Amino acid sequence: MKKEGLIDHESIGHFGGVLTEAQKNKGLLIHSLQSIQAIHNYLPEDELKSLSKNLRITLSEIYSTATFYKQFYFTPRGRNIARVCTGTACHVRGAVEILDALKQEFKIEEGETTEDASLTLETVGCVGCCGLAPVLTVNEEIVGEVEEEKLEQIVDQIRGDNGGSNEEA
Ligand code: FES
Repeated sequence: MKKEGLIDHESIGHFGGVLTEAQKNKGLLIHSLQSIQAIHNYLPEDELKSLSKNLRITLSEIYSTATFYKQFYFTPRGRNIARVCTGTACHVRGAVEILDALKQEFKIEEGETTEDASLTLETVGCVGCCGLAPVLTVNEEIVGEVEEEKLEQIVDQIRGDNGGSNEEA
């Protein structure tokens, strides 16, 4: 049975006729990994094992491919991803303090995810908004000129995100 979100050979179109089965399967690998990650937010081992079976690609080859790309993760990720910019301008304007405050607040280290999966905390190089330093990104949003009050709002926002399990209307 085809797994939801996985691309099948028909998706390759007319190129399918000139490729070997193994080449087709390798061509599907990245898309399949992206689909799995879109569903789980990371690449669970059991999914990779079944992908290995379905595409007839060894598990070690799958890991080798997946680790090549920075976009893939092998441990569960939070519903929110906060990245503290540690580029020069942000460093000078307090990035370390922001990072420390978030670590303390959520009791995690850089690169870790909270137990309730509300947050993954990371650092990032310059995000190109040095004039707004210190800068933090929360998911797709760039938050500039981060000071105590803004940081508190961000913390509240992340704490308020319970993954949609709030029963209140
Ligand atoms: S150093 Fe942080 S945005 Fe450039």
